[in-house]
Amino acid sequence: MEQQVWVENVWKSFDRGRIEVLKGVSLGVTKGEIIALCGTSGCGKSTLLNVISGLEEVDRGDVRVSGYNVVTESTRIDLLRHHIGYVFQFHHLMSDLTLAENCLVPLIASGGRRSDGMVRLHELAAATGVEHRLDRRVRELSGGERQRGAIVRSLMNDPELLLCDEPTGALDERNREKVFDLLLDLVRARGRTLVLATHDPDLASRCDRTVRMRDGRIEGDSN
Ligand SMILES: Nc1ncnc2c1ncn2[C@@H]1O[C@H](COP(=O)(O)OP(=O)(O)O)[C@@H](O)[C@H]1O
Ligand SMILES: [Mg+2]
Repeated sequence: MEQQVWVENVWKSFDRGRIEVLKGVSLGVTKGEIIALCGTSGCGKSTLLNVISGLEEVDRGDVRVSGYNVVTESTRIDLLRHHIGYVFQFHHLMSDLTLAENCLVPLIASGGRRSDGMVRLHELAAATGVEHRLDRRVRELSGGERQRGAIVRSLMNDPELLLCDEPTGALDERNREKVFDLLLDLVRARGRTLVLATHDPDLASRCDRTVRMRDGRIEGDSN
């Protein structure tokens, strides 16, 4: 089966090698698979997502996404613009812009047509229940609405791979369930690949596969 993400023996440290964070991580994710990356805080989940997306450089090892070599190719920015969506733990939306303006940023950055973007924006906003909030500034939105908005933004370019870093971590229990269900529905309906970092076993159990990390290493892999 076609591999969407291929990580091989990746090492990553910070502070000139003084803080070793990823210690020989290897991971393959098949196209269309929904996997949970689990482990306690500090084990390296966010760093691994950043390495997969090319936002962080590796010390050694190989990373490929959709056939692109993330480590060496200068096409990394194209990869981020066209093939990868990212939902961060704390939305990272611009608070003084409206939700609609925020969501159009990835489209404009990738050279998409605004008219196509508006259609897509309304579809996704309706699916996530934030259509009535599109013209509000982000700072006026609730936590749940911001995370829904961040999901809309991440899907604007219909990425093949969606990376989500504790996407519901900042929400209360009721909103967490709702937003997570929505995320899974959107990804499954489109046959997209999802890598979700979470420390929540309930959320992990609803993914196709769970990969457990501990202290910078992959400890176990189960279906
Ligand atoms: N930019 C950085 N500089 C120094 N240390 C970092 C940096 N980013 C992450 N770390 C350290 O790497 C370890 C793993 O962090 P992280 O990948 O955020 O783990 P997780 O997402 O599993 O909580 C932590 O000890 C963290 O302090
Ligand atoms: Mg993290």
